[in-house]
Amino acid sequence: MFSVSSRRALPQDAGNVLSECQSPIRFWHFHVVPCHVSGFENSAIFATIGSRTLLIKVKLRPHHPNAVFGKKVLSFESLDSTNRYAKQILEEEDEGTVVVAEEQTAGRGRMGRTWTSEKGKNLTCSLIIKPSITPEYLGIISLFAGVVVARTITRLTMLNAECKWPNDVLLNRRKCSGILAESTISGGRCTGIVVGIGININQMEFPAELQHTATSLQMETGRRFETSQVLDTLLEEAEAAYPDVRHRHYQNIRNAWLALAPMMGRTVRVTTPEATFQGTAHRIDDRGGLVITRNGNEQYFTVGDVSIRYEHDNTRG
Ligand code: BTN
Repeated sequence: MFSVSSRRALPQDAGNVLSECQSPIRFWHFHVVPCHVSGFENSAIFATIGSRTLLIKVKLRPHHPNAVFGKKVLSFESLDSTNRYAKQILEEEDEGTVVVAEEQTAGRGRMGRTWTSEKGKNLTCSLIIKPSITPEYLGIISLFAGVVVARTITRLTMLNAECKWPNDVLLNRRKCSGILAESTISGGRCTGIVVGIGININQMEFPAELQHTATSLQMETGRRFETSQVLDTLLEEAEAAYPDVRHRHYQNIRNAWLALAPMMGRTVRVTTPEATFQGTAHRIDDRGGLVITRNGNEQYFTVGDVSIRYEHDNTRG
């Protein structure tokens, strides 16, 4: 699709120098190769960072005048973390800008964990959003993202993708996607949010510690999926669901999430950085927090890892 796709094959006439700036640590050189694909206006940019040349594709997509997501997609061959990079450009970029990487060298997971993903096999991306929202409602953004991802996966696989609080998406009780929303806050309001999404697409093997809990779209369907198709579907679903975030119709988001979350009413174990609690998943409150009950007492969580008890086979997902 792009005129040059290998970073080793940087052409002599790589195009105009888009910009060149000197940082205190290193030089950044950008070479732009314009190329035209029907319906798209694209550029491939080679960024020389230290000794490495990375291919970055900038895709300006055809869009409805009111569309939010994916007008600009920044695709990297390799980044440390799309979330970290998206946070770096959050202020100057418009809402709806997307950062994608074929590989993350330091992918971030929830609760300080790392997110590992085989290069080129999965989707690792971050969406920039700037809704008018106060920090205590950030849990709603996790639910929004969970709904978007679950609908995307169901549409592509025809399998029932399920949401698990706070923001995992499961196929056949195994995790196929993780979401990490990070925000910047100023004056008591969120000035920008980065919604990081990892979807396991064509990866067939996982590290030993994830072998019984992780899965991918290909593992569950026996079919391969194009990463670009998954991203396009994801952006369509984000576009469809986002008005409820923008207009603060949080009840709609909760209801959409609850309809995809069979964990409610089940026995769950919630592990927080402090301790582990067991009870029945009772409700999701208006800020997206989880309420469990035990012996008639309610406990409220804004963070934590949930494992669900399934009665019939005694396993947990
Ligand atoms: C989790 O722990 O389940 C959340 C994982 C989130 C991973 C995604 S991959 C794209 C984005 N960039 C990151 O560094 N993390 C998120």
